[in-house]
Amino acid sequence: MTQLAINGGPKTKTRPFGTGKRFGQEEKDQLMEVIDNDMLFYCMGNKVYEFQDEFAKMHDMKHCVACSSGTAAVHIALGTLQLKPGSEVITSSITDMGSLTGILYQNLIPVFADIEADTYNMDPKSVEECITEKTGAILVVHHTGLVADMDAFLALGEKYNLHIVEDVAQAYLGEYKGKLAGTMTPISTFSLNHFKHITCGSGGMILTNDEDKRKFASLFSDKCYDRETGIKNPYFLAPNYQMTELQGAVALAQLKKLPWIIKQRRKLGDKLTEHLKTIEGITPQLIPEGTKHTYFFFVFRVDTEKLSVTSAEFSAALKEEGIPNVANMITGGMPEYAYDVFKNRSAFPDSQHPFVNSELGTNISYDNVNCPVAEKAFTQVINLEMNEFFTEQDIEEMGQAIEKVARYYMEKR
Ligand SMILES: Cc1ncc(COP(=O)(O)O)c(C=O)c1O
Repeated sequence: MTQLAINGGPKTKTRPFGTGKRFGQEEKDQLMEVIDNDMLFYCMGNKVYEFQDEFAKMHDMKHCVACSSGTAAVHIALGTLQLKPGSEVITSSITDMGSLTGILYQNLIPVFADIEADTYNMDPKSVEECITEKTGAILVVHHTGLVADMDAFLALGEKYNLHIVEDVAQAYLGEYKGKLAGTMTPISTFSLNHFKHITCGSGGMILTNDEDKRKFASLFSDKCYDRETGIKNPYFLAPNYQMTELQGAVALAQLKKLPWIIKQRRKLGDKLTEHLKTIEGITPQLIPEGTKHTYFFFVFRVDTEKLSVTSAEFSAALKEEGIPNVANMITGGMPEYAYDVFKNRSAFPDSQHPFVNSELGTNISYDNVNCPVAEKAFTQVINLEMNEFFTEQDIEEMGQAIEKVARYYMEKR
């Protein structure tokens, strides 16, 4: 039995991972143009407008509205649906809080659906069970960069007359049956935060083909001031979620790099997926036929029963082999509904609004949310960084290290 590094054996990965700079001359040039132009306000500049046009064109969509974050983008998208306060929005039990913040600020009620055990995306069967007469929309998150089962969600939308929104924060240029992520629903949302495939520090976008939605989204992201007509007479409540020219400039430069970033991550991620398929006790994320992953990060499952190991033990051993990882999903160790804000219904001070509100007719508790598949995933899933600058050798060594650790526990049983 080969000794694990954690037990004093040789480390699998001794060479450093491939690295590279995310920002360079392209970003500098764009930023210099903004400074030379002496204008940081999107409305009087050109970088944000240019970025919006380029992003829409890349997706063969008519309109993009840029904003200050992915959280803002989800809020804006939900705003355009004009749902009655108290309506329910079904979303995944494993996502970022940014998917949920806008729901609450729009006085809507998040309802959490369970996930599929193999893709970690929302399970359409669980979503259907969550539908009530109060459901207004389904927010579909393409978790880890893998596009969810959109045919099933679009069919639910038709069957129950519900809005469907794609949250594409993690899945730039993900593909589903020949369609790009973010092009399958009337409005979709993106994030440009630090961790995403491309970034401008913080930023977000919505995509739509609907002129009314575009107009509403631009009003919603800018205090309901109509910058196009110059009319300042807000007729609904709207925050200021403007993107600045500085963000727009960096986003524009980053956008040009996006196809290469996705190509690299897909090549590397798919290679690791293939290797992991051959290892007993290890299951990589399932990539359904017709779907192309974008590997925002890389997850795999450890068969903790078969290997007689906890995911924390496996994770610690893998780390000592030279492979950074976390035994976790991105939500900090628990499904979203276990967060204090939901458990304690404490979105606003001294109030249970919007969870409990007689005027809205709401009374929801998250104490008995039943998402066994999501909860089990937290005990078995390991999360690895994926990066476009990694080399093929890095990927080989990642696979070898996982194989070594899995084999050790398999033989030790
Ligand atoms: C699925 C998803 N939605 C929304 C967001 C929020 O994006 P931001 O951090 O830009 O507000 C994130 C960010 O991690 C995300 O992963």
